[in-house]
Parts: sequence; structure tokens; C-alpha cells
Amino acid sequence: MPKVTIDDQVYEFEERPKLLQFCLDHGVELPHFCYHPAMSIPANCRQCLVEVGTPARDRATGDLKVDDDGNPVIQFFPKLQTSCSMDVSDGMVVKTKRTSNLVKRAQEDTMEFLLINHPLDCPICDQAGRCPLQIQAYKYGREGSRFEFRKVHKPKKVKLGPRVMLDAERCINCTRCTRFTQEISESHQLTIISRGVKNYPMTPPGMVFDEPYSMNVIDICPVGALTSAESRFKARAWEMSSTPSISTTNAKGSNCFYWVRDNLVMEITARQNMAVNEYWLADEDRLDYKRFNDDRPTGPQVRREGTLVLASWEHAYQHAVDLLAGLDGSEILFLGSAYATVEDNFLLTKLAAALGADAPRYIQHIEPGHGDDWLRTDDRTPNAQGCERLGIQPVDETVVRSRVQAGEIKAVYVLEDDPVNAGLLSLDDLSDVRVVLHYYNTTNETLDTADVALPAAMVVETVGTYVSQDGYAQRVRPAKAIRGVNRTLRMEMGASRTDRHGTPFDRWYNESHKIDCKPSWETLPAIADLFGHAMTYKGPKQIMQEVVDTHPAFDGATYQAMGLQGVRLQEIGEPA
Ligand code: SF4
Ligand code: FES
Repeated sequence: MPKVTIDDQVYEFEERPKLLQFCLDHGVELPHFCYHPAMSIPANCRQCLVEVGTPARDRATGDLKVDDDGNPVIQFFPKLQTSCSMDVSDGMVVKTKRTSNLVKRAQEDTMEFLLINHPLDCPICDQAGRCPLQIQAYKYGREGSRFEFRKVHKPKKVKLGPRVMLDAERCINCTRCTRFTQEISESHQLTIISRGVKNYPMTPPGMVFDEPYSMNVIDICPVGALTSAESRFKARAWEMSSTPSISTTNAKGSNCFYWVRDNLVMEITARQNMAVNEYWLADEDRLDYKRFNDDRPTGPQVRREGTLVLASWEHAYQHAVDLLAGLDGSEILFLGSAYATVEDNFLLTKLAAALGADAPRYIQHIEPGHGDDWLRTDDRTPNAQGCERLGIQPVDETVVRSRVQAGEIKAVYVLEDDPVNAGLLSLDDLSDVRVVLHYYNTTNETLDTADVALPAAMVVETVGTYVSQDGYAQRVRPAKAIRGVNRTLRMEMGASRTDRHGTPFDRWYNESHKIDCKPSWETLPAIADLFGHAMTYKGPKQIMQEVVDTHPAFDGATYQAMGLQGVRLQEIGEPA
């Protein structure tokens, strides 16, 4: 197998990888800015310079030259090379700053060059604390500055589009953002204008940077030049904890990080998963953070004399049981949810079976024309596949409406959905029907007719599994704390959300931002118990194990196997 020597260490390689990527893949750190593995390689920042030598050949014979000891003679290129654009070749010898003073000096000089006109904005820049330029200036730059003249000034606070702001002074002209719009999203909405030290990215005349993936340039900008119009100046990177999870605005299951401060979700950024969303995230996924903070319930409620009033959880459970007790199973409609996790839907099917009702159905939320061939789908729910794999079918609207209007259905049990807003049933239809509702936000229109309203934990507050449209089973973890002690949720908090003693950690930790809600995998067993049908689980992990054991469509989807990147399930009906 061909070999390359990097800082006196020999590595084997296959095919011809790029040298920078090969180093990064093997734990050899090299500073870089313009290189991005998904895009073309302009090699314009010059920060990734290394010394490179290759085995010398005799010009006349073409044979490898060897020294007196029989070792190949290495001929170094006369100038330093950009490792991002160089193919690794057999016998190549590479020196990074660890073994070459020349490289160390070149990297310091390049950094000094990049910083000549860079403003000292770090104290107020949103990128500070997670800024490649800042980090690499510490690691590879000189101490202090030798420049005492006025820096070149460029436009600041430029609104490139509705969601992205530009501070042109901070730009180092790496062209990652323009290449993104040319090569990845293909919107061609950004280009570089002006020349020399005065150039910066801008929209072409008459164009607005408003494509549905525009905010990806914020992630890939290696400095703080591009920031989110929504979340800039709201939280510093070190005040927030980030939790790896998935987005739930559609059926793609794009991987993301939820950034939380003070039990509020402050922003959502892309997380790499090459099988699902690669490096990217749609803007709609990033802007989804507000519904985790706003219009959240204040606690469980029961309806008394026409008004919903706060109640204890125990009282609300008992009230739900009293409403349903005495009804025949056929008189209760159970609605599962493509917003809820596999575990929650599974428990709902068990409760329905225990009460002798038909299997739950779920409401489809399809928005024709919304999807594209990339990360947005017509289906605006994250778990329709999970429902169908559990045997929960889409609801037949006509049948349900006519049965409710004929008085055949006397109670509706709704798991984490809004049948009124979805147009399945009107408030009139439900006026004589008992309604138990698990819900996320007080904007849920079915609340107006609910007899028992149980606040449900959202994706950022629970543990559970979702199955994407393409059949990837992925699990989520709590990014923020909810009220009440739940050992499972505490244990599942990401490492960044707790300190080494297991104490929840982020700035200005605030009890009043904790929502009084519970995961439905906690409320459903509590209600089933009151009916005399014990559902004894240690937590969602055990529930999912039972799903895997009883449903071949989930074969292999254990928590351990799903890890952080999920597992691809067999197509429904596909032979194992
Ligand atoms: S704005 Fe950022 S991504 Fe775009 S060219 Fe400048 S430094 Fe690069
Ligand atoms: S990363 Fe190689 S030149 Fe920019």
C-alpha cells in the first residue's frame, strides 16, 4: 500500500486523498480557512502551507534515486505548498510546523497578513469563542500586532437578506460563502465585489440573499463576518451549551445542535451526518427555536365549568381516566402523532389496545410543493415513518368526521397534535366529545375544547426516537431541563449541558424558564396504571427495546446502535 511520511510518522493511504483532509482525518492538525470538504478548492487563504518533498527520479532513466544507504532521495519543492490542494502521493514526505521552522514562520506570516485589516471586534462578535480565526490566531499567530496605521474600513451591519447580516471588515475573503451559493445551493446569490483589500462578498445588483438555505453560510464562514439576523448579539458561545439532536420541522431528520442558555433555546446550527444532511441545514430548521420557548403551557389543566384551570398532574390523570371510564373502546378515537416519538406512539397503541379501542391513527401534515430534492420535504412532521412502522395508519378524515358527527365517537385522545388546526375536526364537531390532549404550545387550537390538557415535552426536552422519510432511525436527547425531577432525562443530558459533577450548566440558570411538562412516555403509563393496566418501564430505552423486539420494521434500532448518527432501517416490506 502506498505510504506518506508526515512529521516523521509513516501513514498508509488508498486512492489519492488531498493532503489537508488526510492530515485532519489522521489527527494531524493543520490550520486552514478556505478549504471545505464539500466544495471546490481555491487555495486562497494560504494558511495550510506545509513543506512537501517527493522521491527524486533520475531524469535519464526515470529510476528512483537512492542515497548511499539505499534510502530514496527526497526532493523538496522549492516553495511551501498549500496542503488543501495537494494530492498525497507514494513516498511523499511532509513537514508541518511541528518539524519545520519554515512552515511555522509562514503560518505566522499568513496569519499576520489576514489580520492586518481585521477589526478587533472579538469582545462583541457573535463568533468569538467558536471562531476559527480567533482560535488559529492564538495557536498559529504571533503575539501582538506590528501594525499601527489605520485599518481599511468596509461596510458593517449589511443586511444581505432577511436572515443573514454581513460585517465586511471581518471578512478574510475565503470565498466559502460565495462557493456555497454557486456549488451547493446553486442560488448564485453571492459574489465577491471590489478588488484588493477592499473586496468583500455581496449580492449581485437587484438580488436579495433569501434562498431557503442561506444561513448555512453563517456556519461555514470561518470568521464573524456573516451572522444571523435573528440571533446576533443575543448570547455568547461560552454562555450556551450545545446538544446534538435532530430537527423536527420536516421528515428529513436533519442533524443539528440545539444551543441553550438559561433553559431557553437560543439558536440551532447544523450537525454533520453524511448519510442524512451532510454539513447543511435548511433555514426553516434553524428558525424553529422560538416555539421551544414561546407560548408554552404553565402546567396540566382540567376543564371546570367551561374553563380550563390548573391542576396537579395526579388530578389531571384521574380526570382523564374518569372521562374515558365507562365508555366502550369503540367510542374512543385515539390519535397518534407524527410529531411524537416512536416510544410515545407505541405506548399509545398499548393504551388503546388495553381499553379495547381500535389502533390509533395519525394526522398527516403534508404541504404540497414545500419540499425540494434536498433537506426540505412536503411532509411537515418528523415521524410519519415511525408511526407507519408501528402500524399507525393515516386517519381517514371523512370516516372520522362522520362518526364524530353521528355521535359514535364520544371521546378523542390526542397525542401531541392539533386536530382542530389540522382541519380534521372543528370545535363544533368536538363540542359534545370528551377530549384528552397532550400538547406543546398554548397556540394549539384543540385546547379550546380539551377537557384535560397535558403539557408534553418537546424534542428539546425528551428522549426518544424519530424515523425520517428515508428510513433513518435517530434518537434525541434533552437539551434543556423541564420542571420536576426525572432521572432518565437528567442522565441523558449531553455532556455539554452538565458539568463533571452532573450539575446542569449554563449561564443565568433560571428555574422559571423550566416548563411544567412531561414526556408522554411518562404520562401514558401513569394513566394506564389508573386503568389497572400496568406499563412498567425503566425509561424510553426499555420501551424502544420492546418496539425493536416486537416490530421487525425497527430491526436494529436500539439506543446503542443509533448513537449520534442513527441507523438506516430496512424499507418496509424489504427482506432482511
Ligand atoms: S464572509 Fe466569511 S465565508 Fe464569506 S468570504 Fe468572507 S470570510 Fe469567507
Ligand atoms: S485552506 Fe489551503 S489555502 Fe486555504
